[in-house]
Amino acid sequence: MHAWLCEILDGVNALQWRELPTPEPKAGEVRIAVKAASLNFPDLLIVEGKYQFKPPLPFVPGSEYAGIVEAVGEGVTHVKPGMPVAAIAGTGGFGTHAIVEASRVLPLPPGFALTDGAAFAFTYGTSHHALIDRAQLKAGETVLVLGAAGGVGTAALQIAKAAGAKVIAAASTDEKCTLCRQLGADATLNYSTQDVRETLKALTAGKGPDVVYDPVGGALAEPVFRSIAWRGRYLVVGFAGGGIPALPWNLALLKGASVVGVFWGDFVKREPQASSQALMQLAGWYAEGKIKPVLDQQLPMSEIRAAYARMASRQVKGKLLLVNP
Ligand SMILES: NC(=O)c1ccc[n+]([C@@H]2O[C@H](COP(=O)([O-])OP(=O)(O)OC[C@H]3O[C@@H](n4cnc5c(N)ncnc54)[C@H](OP(=O)(O)O)[C@@H]3O)[C@@H](O)[C@H]2O)c1
Repeated sequence: MHAWLCEILDGVNALQWRELPTPEPKAGEVRIAVKAASLNFPDLLIVEGKYQFKPPLPFVPGSEYAGIVEAVGEGVTHVKPGMPVAAIAGTGGFGTHAIVEASRVLPLPPGFALTDGAAFAFTYGTSHHALIDRAQLKAGETVLVLGAAGGVGTAALQIAKAAGAKVIAAASTDEKCTLCRQLGADATLNYSTQDVRETLKALTAGKGPDVVYDPVGGALAEPVFRSIAWRGRYLVVGFAGGGIPALPWNLALLKGASVVGVFWGDFVKREPQASSQALMQLAGWYAEGKIKPVLDQQLPMSEIRAAYARMASRQVKGKLLLVNP
């Protein structure tokens, strides 16, 4: 097998394409021939040592992938060789093969494309946990999604629509806003060119959004929080913009509003049953055509540097895939 190996925490340029012995799965493990791996923002952070999860060196990055089971270790019963599966393991996906704990492997139902499977659980799991569980979103409420054309953003937009909410999709370019309207957004806001507070006031008849989904952070957070509705819920999802915002707490008091943290990885570990139920609901919505991963470019696995550069420069729309022949 071959894989991109992270031997030092010096970013994507330090990754090395290495030939490695093809491992046999031990008890409780599965070996997967990787067909497609998607890029998630944490994949950028992890090879720089900036992600909260710091695997021991050397490791193969690639948090989410899909492929065909090649071999299973003792005690593994829910998948068998030849089955199409998706895996969320935090690492391991950017190669030709991966060894993964069986509990991280999800069989793909009939009709679920491998390319969609590689770009599904991380973003839709996060956005479902955020909107449905943490924010208790109700039909008819208004959700503002920041970074709405990105990975978790496109998933949040689709989930909010599936839940019967009105969606204001916010992004940095008109092209991204157009994509969001094609995906069903009721309104859009270009935060590079439009006044955030005035636009939100106009789009919500002065009331403000009930729920804000924020994977971007930085300077946008304060004006957006000032615009939130009475009893609003502000979902802290990530800081792709780089800056961790600090808010004056009186803003929360004045709006009776909540700042709500979202940490999907720990939710999966701490509440596995609730997480499985959420994934089942999402698989049902996928089968009904209510949600579908938005696929950006599909690059060969060898082009990992181009893939990382595309994400770091905010060009990815939806999910970028690295694929093996
Ligand atoms: N809390 C959790 O459990 C959880 C789970 C998954 C991901 N996350 C976090 O969610 C965030 C988004 O992840 P993702 O995989 O959806 O990433 P993504 O596809 O790259 O989307 C991030 C969006 O952030 C915006 N952005 C603003 N400034 C940026 C910058 N300097 N560099 C890159 N993007 C920038 C971009 O939209 P515009 O150009 O439109 O501004 C981009 O589309 C990350 O911070 C990630 O760590 C959190």
